[in-house]
Amino acid sequence: MIEVDDLALTYPGGNDIPETQVIDGIDLNVEAGKSVAVIGPSGCGKSSLLYILAGLMKPTAGQVTIAEEPVNRPRPDVALILQDTGLLPWKTVWQNAIFGLTLKGPMSLKQSKRALKELGLKGMEHRYPSQLSGGEKKRVGLARALAQNAQVLLMDEPLAALDTLTKEHTQNLILALWKKHEFTLVLVTHDIEEAVFFGQRIVALSKRPASIVDEIDNPDVGEEAYRQSSEFFRKVRQIRALLTS
Ligand SMILES: Nc1ncnc2c1ncn2[C@@H]1O[C@H](COP(=O)(O)OP(=O)(O)OP(=O)(O)O)[C@@H](O)[C@H]1O
Ligand SMILES: [Mg+2]
Repeated sequence: MIEVDDLALTYPGGNDIPETQVIDGIDLNVEAGKSVAVIGPSGCGKSSLLYILAGLMKPTAGQVTIAEEPVNRPRPDVALILQDTGLLPWKTVWQNAIFGLTLKGPMSLKQSKRALKELGLKGMEHRYPSQLSGGEKKRVGLARALAQNAQVLLMDEPLAALDTLTKEHTQNLILALWKKHEFTLVLVTHDIEEAVFFGQRIVALSKRPASIVDEIDNPDVGEEAYRQSSEFFRKVRQIRALLTS
């Protein structure tokens, strides 16, 4: 589904900013419907990698294909949820949820309504982002992705700013949606537990320029009560050891 082939990125610099090599030869394949968590230190190039996958930025070398098409621009079936929520403050929940959709007839309207309901936002359609909690804002962003029936969901530290319980609740919700809708999930995070919770494969990046240091299989993702299991904590310890070695 997603194929990343020998990807490299250097920001050109200028105006006293030096040229910065950010990604150095990343190869990555993600099958349709699977999940991958990409973990690495702050500033290593994780967000940059997602922008390239989303078609918002061109790599310096290498190529990304999604569904066998080279990625050169954003695609309607690929949704990106950013580090901040990316909601437009002057639009309501409903307008944000349908933003970018070409509402061709009752089908996509219905889909948008269903997405808001699935995310527990029914009754909040007319609020503005400033009238929502942090967790609710994240859920509007997710509703937008579901409304557009995304086949690929790219998430950049989506839950970093939330308190522990809201974060766990939203993580459970995203996992349930992933199981139900079977989209392909690529999540970028520096939170080890979040990576183990979501990633059927966990890809560990080096510090900048990012290259892959290791890939760990994590087949129990999505199983009932995985978060409470000893296997979960074993994986967390394994990744921590890897990242600190
Ligand atoms: N437009 C730019 N020009 C030059 N350097 C940049 C530019 N954008 C980002 N960088 C640098 O590239 C590196 C990678 O940035 P990126 O945002 O991809 O890191 P990250 O892994 O997502 O970090 P974090 O975990 O803190 O979000 C950083 O060192 C950053 O300073
Ligand atoms: Mg980032």
